[in-house]
Amino acid sequence: MEQKIAYPFSFFIGKINNCSMLVKRKWWKEVVVYQLYPRSFKDTNGDGIGDLKGIIEKLDYIKSLGIDVVWMNPVYESPNDDMGYDISDYRAIMQQFGTMEDFDVLLNGLHDRGIKLIMDLVVNHTSDEHEWFKESKKSRDNPYRNYYHWWDAERGKPPYRWSIFDEQSSAWKYDAATSSYYLHIFSEKQPDLNWENPQVRSEVYDMMKFWMDKGIDGFRMDVITCISKDIAFPELPKGMAVSDWFPYYAKGPHLHAYLNEMHREVFSGYDCMNVGEASGVSIDDALLFVDEDRNELQTFYHFEHTGFGISKDNFMYVDDTNRDLVEWKNIFLRWDNVFAEKGWGTIYLGNHDMSRMTSRFGNDSDRYRELSAKMLHTFLLSMRATPYIYNGDEIGMTNTNHTSIDAYEDLYTINYYNQLRNNGGDYEGFLRSHAAISRDNGRTPMQWNSSTHAGFTTGRPWLAVNKNYTTVNVEEQETRSDSVLNYFRNMIQLRKSNLTLVYGKFELIDENNKQIFSYTRQLDNQKLLVVLNFSDREARLKSDVDISGAHVLISNYVKPLGIDLYRPYEAVIYKIIKNQ
Ligand code: NOJ
Repeated sequence: MEQKIAYPFSFFIGKINNCSMLVKRKWWKEVVVYQLYPRSFKDTNGDGIGDLKGIIEKLDYIKSLGIDVVWMNPVYESPNDDMGYDISDYRAIMQQFGTMEDFDVLLNGLHDRGIKLIMDLVVNHTSDEHEWFKESKKSRDNPYRNYYHWWDAERGKPPYRWSIFDEQSSAWKYDAATSSYYLHIFSEKQPDLNWENPQVRSEVYDMMKFWMDKGIDGFRMDVITCISKDIAFPELPKGMAVSDWFPYYAKGPHLHAYLNEMHREVFSGYDCMNVGEASGVSIDDALLFVDEDRNELQTFYHFEHTGFGISKDNFMYVDDTNRDLVEWKNIFLRWDNVFAEKGWGTIYLGNHDMSRMTSRFGNDSDRYRELSAKMLHTFLLSMRATPYIYNGDEIGMTNTNHTSIDAYEDLYTINYYNQLRNNGGDYEGFLRSHAAISRDNGRTPMQWNSSTHAGFTTGRPWLAVNKNYTTVNVEEQETRSDSVLNYFRNMIQLRKSNLTLVYGKFELIDENNKQIFSYTRQLDNQKLLVVLNFSDREARLKSDVDISGAHVLISNYVKPLGIDLYRPYEAVIYKIIKNQ
């Protein structure tokens, strides 16, 4: 096959305003989002913890990626029980991270470079050190009492609620001062806010407006489906599977009313973007959240594909029998179909709650790390959904695979381990699994160069740097045109110069192929074929799409073979020339 295309990507689809897409064009559908975990990005004061000045120092690097939006994990004041997801002051910057002045410099620095900023909105719960909670626990008649969910002890023990973040596995904590229990779906330092109370909702909307008026461009909304729950707290059915928890913890009777109210009170006043973390939302009710006519959310992210390689009935353990690519492809197909005409999707393979994408979905061996990381970027940036790329994945960072509990900082790993240990559970198996799937795998410091601690800090990093930093780092990858980093940049440019990759119709090719994930994207007369070998073996693609004469737009091998044979982790995007 003839190689016709040369970099940079030089073609555009004709008149984009006339194209026949069914969904409405919006800027937030066309952006690429870079998720930035401040604690691990860059430390400038030697305390081993990333800070806002560190992000400011790296603004030109961030710009160089070609991304459009930064989602920054929480930087608000917090005692850090859950690394910032336990907020004690929504309007202050965590001292470890810097000051509000630093924040303003950062925001302006991003805007000056044409990059938008979305912040985490964590309002299912606060920290137990938030003023509201400190008041609330003082007495049963305190004006803030009703800001949280309390269960008075004279009613007996509250119906059991499980918490994965709690050593005792209970989501109710007894507080002797008022002889009552309070609800905390997450750790005992994260009491759940009572959204039934209109005052709570109005405080949250005011706080959101405070940040929007400062100039941020929107929010990523933490466990947003949990804000409304069944506060009658019915008993959990006996023997209930872990995966059936949603009706008891989330998606309560007023969820849509609250989201609608939030849209009216806050989002409708700004040209902004939002994305909800939507545990429990399925394809059946997806559009209830993001159909634009309903005025709730713009987008959300679901979790269905993240179960790959993990036990189906208890997501704490690795299960290699649950690695069926055909099933996985169908998950993406189903979700794509949901948003074909209304709403809009998101796509991600890594974040601060997951282990590293290259280790989980690719192959982190020396031989295949770079190839598979590039293949996964080709996937993320060629699907019909807004892509979220987690910092570090642009250089193919990998898991640390710790097998000792002492190596962990994440309360989720530590507390669940203790829970199992105290109750005679399989804590060793859990630890073995967590070497591959723990959240700390995704939180290790960014690998900037091959100097001590990867150039992340001059002090002692809060979480150990991955040992492979001398070979896997930004500085080294800047020097090579074939690095993961430069491939990622090229792939972003390809997406941005080609609306077919954003809005084009998605169709699976050779859907029963167990090694290859392949699909076409089509918009008007433009047709692209994406071929991704997800395996470490050669694979053949069965397809009717004629690639003779096609342009190769991008490929992670030096030269595609041009036949139906694909090498391990090979990724190619073809522009099909003939009208087929
Ligand atoms: C989801 C966040 O992404 C995670 O990091 C956090 O622990 C929980 N929500 C609780 O806020």
